[in-house]
Amino acid sequence: MFSSLRLAAVAFVSLALSSTVLGLAIPTKRAQVCNGHADLCERGYGNVTFLGAHDSFAFSGNPFALARDQEVDIKAQLKLGVRMLQAQAHMNKKELHFCHTTCGLFDGGSVEKYLQIVKSFLVKNPNEVLTLILTNPEKVSIPNVWKPIFDKAGVSELAYVPPKPIMSRDDWPTLGQMIEANKRLVVFVDHGAEQASNPTANFILPQFQMVWEDTFDPTNAKFPCKVDRTSGPLAPAQQLNLINHNLNVNILPIGHGILLPDRIQSPRTNGAKSILRHAAHCAPFVQDRNPNFVMLDFVNVGQGMDAVNRLNGISAH
Ligand SMILES: *[C@@H]1O[C@H](CO)[C@@H](O)[C@H](O)[C@H]1NC(C)=O
Repeated sequence: MFSSLRLAAVAFVSLALSSTVLGLAIPTKRAQVCNGHADLCERGYGNVTFLGAHDSFAFSGNPFALARDQEVDIKAQLKLGVRMLQAQAHMNKKELHFCHTTCGLFDGGSVEKYLQIVKSFLVKNPNEVLTLILTNPEKVSIPNVWKPIFDKAGVSELAYVPPKPIMSRDDWPTLGQMIEANKRLVVFVDHGAEQASNPTANFILPQFQMVWEDTFDPTNAKFPCKVDRTSGPLAPAQQLNLINHNLNVNILPIGHGILLPDRIQSPRTNGAKSILRHAAHCAPFVQDRNPNFVMLDFVNVGQGMDAVNRLNGISAH
């Protein structure tokens, strides 16, 4: 009796605290459906598995476009249920573009145009939380180049600003709270977003301090798991985690080789069995929890969304 009262009090206080931390007024309208499911509204962002599209901008229907990682465009990826878009940025002349390795190889257009597509999706779908995981290999300035592009595309005001610089997996608000506050875009960048180098763009978050990844560019179809990329003070178990479930094939097995996304294996790779097995391989690193992001090539192939629903405990209807 005493302990359940105490628990209720703790729950009340932490609810009140989390709304203050979020800087929200007490919402009058509660979100009923979050990312397509009522059950997800009460779940912390760090307790949800999201389907991700690797190199989301590098889409082409042409099988000979060897630098492609996707077959369908961003709108179609979102329609399939993708809620984490990954992309790699490079300077092209004086404009930031999403390109694969180099803009000569595959130019996916300007980051601003891409973000306009993201904005229009978020505006049309007010009950959806979306994550961007962006790579910045040329270490282009976050405050001077990236942030103004987000501002111009009109997405900055939809971006979630955490109450502290490094959020652990359990620190995040629920999807319901994010939707009610209309802060539904989470933005991670791999380089240059650490607070010291990024004092002003407080919604552009340092990925590896909060999200670890397992093996990068995997070529083993069994997807053994190891903590590959991570940094900062949090242990991997306290971070969000991303599984790189995008299988590559080495077409030049000498020297460093040449890796291409394995389209031929993709029905099997993107099958529920392979995805669930990969998630299970990584579970020991995160106290037996599921991954937060399941990142695929060719998201239109296989059963990515089914697998993610199963990981979220949502059964097929
Ligand atoms: C969410 O929490 C449940 C219950 O603890 C757990 O089984 C599941 O793995 C968690 N999912 C994620 C993505 O943390």
